[in-house]
Amino acid sequence: MTIIYALTAILAIFMTACLKNTEEPPLAHDIHSYANPNLARVRHIALDLTVVFEQQSIQGTAVLTIQQFERDAKQLILDSRALQIDETEISPDGVKYVESRFSIGKADKILGAPLQIDIAPDTKYVRIRYSTDPTATALQWLMPEQTAGKRYPFLYTQSQAIHARSWIPLQDSPGIRVTWEAKIHVPKGMTAVMSATNCAPGAADCRFVMDQPVPPYLIALAVGDLAFQPTGMRTGVWAEPAVLPAAAAEFSDMEKMLEAAERLYGPYRWGRYDVLVLPPSFPFGGMENPRLTFATPTVIAGDKSLVSLVAHELAHSWSGNLVTNATWSDFWLNEGYTVYIERRIIEELYGKRRAEMEAVLGYQDLQDELKSRPPADQILHIDLAGRDPDDAVTSIPYEKGALFLRQIEQVFGRQKFDAYLKDYFDHFAFQSVTTAQSLDYMRAHLFASNPVEAAADKIPVDQWVFQPGLPASAPVPVSDAFRAIDDAKQIDTRGWSTQEWLHYLRGLPEHLGAARMEELDKSYNLTASANDEILQQWLLMAVRNQYEPAYPRLEEFLTTVGRRKYVKPLYEAMDLKQAAPIYEKARPMYHPITQATVDSILAAKARK
Ligand code: BES
Ligand code: ZN
Repeated sequence: MTIIYALTAILAIFMTACLKNTEEPPLAHDIHSYANPNLARVRHIALDLTVVFEQQSIQGTAVLTIQQFERDAKQLILDSRALQIDETEISPDGVKYVESRFSIGKADKILGAPLQIDIAPDTKYVRIRYSTDPTATALQWLMPEQTAGKRYPFLYTQSQAIHARSWIPLQDSPGIRVTWEAKIHVPKGMTAVMSATNCAPGAADCRFVMDQPVPPYLIALAVGDLAFQPTGMRTGVWAEPAVLPAAAAEFSDMEKMLEAAERLYGPYRWGRYDVLVLPPSFPFGGMENPRLTFATPTVIAGDKSLVSLVAHELAHSWSGNLVTNATWSDFWLNEGYTVYIERRIIEELYGKRRAEMEAVLGYQDLQDELKSRPPADQILHIDLAGRDPDDAVTSIPYEKGALFLRQIEQVFGRQKFDAYLKDYFDHFAFQSVTTAQSLDYMRAHLFASNPVEAAADKIPVDQWVFQPGLPASAPVPVSDAFRAIDDAKQIDTRGWSTQEWLHYLRGLPEHLGAARMEELDKSYNLTASANDEILQQWLLMAVRNQYEPAYPRLEEFLTTVGRRKYVKPLYEAMDLKQAAPIYEKARPMYHPITQATVDSILAAKARK
């Protein structure tokens, strides 16, 4: 009898152990997270949060559903940054909770601090009562004056790359996917929206749900005076009421973009695709939060000339959100694939001429970036040991990554490559993949069946992914439209697109002199340009040539627009004397991410 009991017990232990270990392969180590996902992993997050504008703080509870892979996990380890933890509780059933001990480890400047919570073998739920700090790196709190309507404050989050941990205690690694839900309590008259199912504007007691597993960097929230306008059956725009009509007109091709992407790469799996237009301090062009892209208002040019940003963020619904970089060293899998797809969508909607102009502009960015970056930073599979993953956001993962795929497309032909990509997204749907996994899959499912094309002299894969610079065989995009400008004896700017203007301005010598600047400004009214992409390029030229008539406009631009890609080169080009007083005014309206970038630019200038 005892022997049978013992045997059954051993068998039971053995079976649970097997179950626990074989359900999923262990995750690759992520140097940017403290989590112990192979022992205890977060599967679902339920948030109940109150947004307190007066204190610049989000407060409430996060209930984490966890899965334990080892009997003696003992602790759940989470990532956190500047969070105030008030209480942690554990429960086997999500009904009865008991308080549990927690400790917060030493804080690292880049990673924040590990939050270690004691768990029992039967723990399935961990409830954390917490509040965020005003310094939370994911959050930007805007005063009413910083919004279009000037009446309500505004809050939005930016969780990528490792900022989710500054507003939610969680396992903040792109390899760890979670489903989630949230209740968000906001002041009267304001609306919360999230990267999940949303409710009607102003709806009371909205419950947000994301029931497809996503990496934590895709959890997003915005709160403001927001209204909604549809642009199609599945697409629409959220924005402040004053901005909404222009935004909806600018993005009116969104439904067509969605359909084009589906024709190329298979069904859109996220239900709706909406865009939220943020106030101008948003530090990025766009952020691909699922179901709800966050976007800068600087792309509203009035002529749809900058909507490749929407194509880009939409493309992430396949590359990035469906198939996700497993660690930040694999970031090129997100961005390189996305830039490639973005240009395919642009070609479908607006033709090859436009797509090629954008490819050439991207290629020029890449060439500039390659000149200014050390060899180690030119590698697609980048080593980020000791570094902030935000530092790896250069043209290299974007444009070198896209160029690599462009070469594969050229060698295999579109038909084969399109079919391959569609299959790749299906195969890895809702999973996070490493560079090695993606290359293995490519070798097995594209190269193996086409050995002639896959020869290393045609596609030097290892050189593309693991070496600096570009392979000698790298494609060089060309644009007939740009060539016509380069070859013209007398330029005729009538009917020029934004892209043609950018090419023309970027092609002018760096030192033009004030007289030539004045002449250009007289002819083309560039200081008054309403297109922020052209204006930024022009202001850069104004700084380089000390063209003073543009200085008031420069100051106005820098004190209203916080998009890092725009402001960074301008501060770099100015001397400290010119930059410091402008920055003093501008800094409070910048997002912490942009502030950090400009802080270090000015600090470097001060040291010189
Ligand atoms: N996901 C990125 C933005 C990002 C990357 C934020 C890394 C934080 C860390 C987004 O999809 C993106 O690439 N945005 C670009 C625009 C795009 C058209 C190239 C941007 O913001 O400039
Ligand atoms: Zn992107």
